[in-house]
Amino acid sequence: MSVLTTGPPSRLRTASLVVTPAVVAHRGASGYRPEHTLDAYRTAIRLGADAIELDVVPTADGVLLARHENELSLTTDVAAHPELADRRTTKVVDGETMTGWFAEDLTLAEVKTLAARERRPGLRPGNTVHDGREGVPTLNEVLAMVGAESVRRGRAVGVLVELKSPPYFDALGLSLDEPLLADLRRHGLDHARSRVTLMSFDGAVLRRLARRTLVPLVQLLDVGDPVDGPALDAIEEYADAIGVHQDLVLPRTADGALDEPTRLVRDAHRRWLDVYVWTLRAENHYLPTEHRVGDDPAGLGDLRGLADAFLDAGVDGLITDHPDLAIRAVVAAA
Ligand code: G3P
Ligand code: CA
Repeated sequence: MSVLTTGPPSRLRTASLVVTPAVVAHRGASGYRPEHTLDAYRTAIRLGADAIELDVVPTADGVLLARHENELSLTTDVAAHPELADRRTTKVVDGETMTGWFAEDLTLAEVKTLAARERRPGLRPGNTVHDGREGVPTLNEVLAMVGAESVRRGRAVGVLVELKSPPYFDALGLSLDEPLLADLRRHGLDHARSRVTLMSFDGAVLRRLARRTLVPLVQLLDVGDPVDGPALDAIEEYADAIGVHQDLVLPRTADGALDEPTRLVRDAHRRWLDVYVWTLRAENHYLPTEHRVGDDPAGLGDLRGLADAFLDAGVDGLITDHPDLAIRAVVAAA
């Protein structure tokens, strides 16, 4: 669905991505490279992704990093740094108790001493050959790289930025809003036709951003979040799209097969809200039963078939760890 509509939205409608249906590389091409590395993003662009997705968390000195969570030991070698051993601590983040090393306790200079590594070495052993080759990029560095790649390849690559844990960082005095908008302004991207889209599970930060920027906004929704008419009416007041757990569009039966589509895509489109689904992953471990190939959980199944099912359900974007496989479905459906 195009978001350039003649409808009566309360907020200026903007084109969130260059094309729809869009293929968005989740944490870069994270099926093939350690997530949230410049190599993962570059690989996604090389494979033809329309956009990359990245999550941001702040350092102690307020610089936004590309990381899925503020605890750094799952995706970096921070535990192997003796000079940082005294920073290991336990915190409650978004209701979850976590022990490790936290981005907000390290300066950017300290983060830049770390090396990135594969989060899922059991399922993605091939990715571990890339461990240690790159550090943790900042949002500023990612935007610079995407801008350069867009020019070099002659096509505008989109960037979906997810703000992680806004209430937690607000309480620490490290709100994400200002550094995020500053990074966008630095790259000339804080405008209605920007190739950047901002996303969060936290509606409050999106409402704040809706008053400060015309960059498209996406309300993320997980299983269990309200998706009925009143909930979508409220979202439509400040957001341009919803980004939903795949089960909210195509639920799975008790046996792990795909069930009938829900009415969410139709209900969202009636409110001029685009719909993106996350996260499509090619390993059998993540696939519904009818799209698995063989018994190895780490083996690649039929992600293209799953992507076909979501396109048939009418979604506007596929957020995936394996963008090349989703692109095959989009091209075939065109
Ligand atoms: O794009 C939305 C999706 O990334 C949300 O899930 O946990 O991978 O950030 P998560
Ligand atoms: Ca994300």
